[in-house]
Amino acid sequence: MRNVHVDLGAKSYDIEIERGLLKTAGKRIRALLPKAEKAAVITDSNVGPLYTRTLRKTLEEEGFSVSVQLFEAGEERKNLATLGSLYNGMAEAGLTRSDLTIALGGGVTGDMGGLAAATFLRGIAFVQIPTSLLATVDSSVGGKVAVDLPEGKNLVGAFYQPKAVFIDPDLLQTLPVRYLHDGLAEVIKYGCIREKALFEKLEQIQDDTELLDHLDEIIEICCNCKARIVERDEFDTGERMLLNFGHTLGHAVEKTFNFDTYSHGEGVSIGMTLLTRRSEALGFTEPGTADRIAALLQKFRLPVSVRMGQEEFLQAIALDKKKRGSAITLVLLKNIGESFLQKVPFSELGKYLPK
Ligand SMILES: NC(=O)c1ccc[n+]([C@@H]2O[C@H](COP(=O)([O-])OP(=O)(O)OC[C@H]3O[C@@H](n4cnc5c(N)ncnc54)[C@H](O)[C@@H]3O)[C@@H](O)[C@H]2O)c1
Ligand SMILES: [Zn+2]
Repeated sequence: MRNVHVDLGAKSYDIEIERGLLKTAGKRIRALLPKAEKAAVITDSNVGPLYTRTLRKTLEEEGFSVSVQLFEAGEERKNLATLGSLYNGMAEAGLTRSDLTIALGGGVTGDMGGLAAATFLRGIAFVQIPTSLLATVDSSVGGKVAVDLPEGKNLVGAFYQPKAVFIDPDLLQTLPVRYLHDGLAEVIKYGCIREKALFEKLEQIQDDTELLDHLDEIIEICCNCKARIVERDEFDTGERMLLNFGHTLGHAVEKTFNFDTYSHGEGVSIGMTLLTRRSEALGFTEPGTADRIAALLQKFRLPVSVRMGQEEFLQAIALDKKKRGSAITLVLLKNIGESFLQKVPFSELGKYLPK
């Protein structure tokens, strides 16, 4: 078993990674919460039918009374209406403050299940069982939980740490390939900002089959990287911003194409490449870095360019800027594995964008 400890004082917890883990989740949760009686499993309409039965069995073997709150899959459902229906289900199941919720699914399930756990009865125990690559390496680590409003993504949320994160890499075998690659963009991001050896390992991997074979190790490296950053900056005021590498330009791409052409990971993929090309030209980044990043992303069919000019980028970023003031913090690379924050006045942002 691989274990990543997240040290946050009284809120510390472990991320356990092991193939076949789902079958023993009940025992592990029982060890954490000896007195809990009821478990509310929150899952979506794709993941639920595949894995709820196994989870229910292992929980019932440990004496938990299990209820399942299933919602229609998709980011569009990560909203207050679905959250409300989760609260109703949890109330009907009779959960008390000594019981727990388990989020079984991708980032949507984890973010929304986490917010339900943070707020129901002013907070009950929460366990994450992430099932998408993005959720295993990113959203399940760090305690950010949220739902979207029509006005924007993740506008209602909290910082709420789980009691544990249980990762069974075998569950990712049913993940549609587009989502596998989507999550891989974030994996490559970790390689770029801090994990040179991971980046080089990914350069050696030939295809998706080989990638799936190495997932345990890859997930462990990414969780470790994010955990170390989160430990030093739980509330996202400094170092945690490094995790936004490629995201300012990536969000601009997602937004300009109305969130229906490029997935989040695809946006980040384009953002990392385009920004690094510019920062190379400006002399901040070792020459050749952008080509290396682009080659790796393209091997996994991720896009590295977009039909968008500087004006369109500026417009999309300006909409976000209102929330941030007159300067924006960009994450730049010195080279693969070494990153730094650069505060850029909005008036100079054009230099960092494609022409
Ligand atoms: N909290 C954070 O720090 C953080 C960080 C990054 C992203 N996020 C959030 O994460 C969300 C995106 O996460 P996501 O990409 O996992 O989205 P998702 O939860 O919608 O999952 C993607 C798709 O894959 C399906 N799926 C998931 N696991 C599966 C499996 N094992 N087998 C078959 N199908 C499976 C889902 O049903 C869904 O259709 C966004 O809402 C984003 O805001 C949060
Ligand atoms: Zn991201």
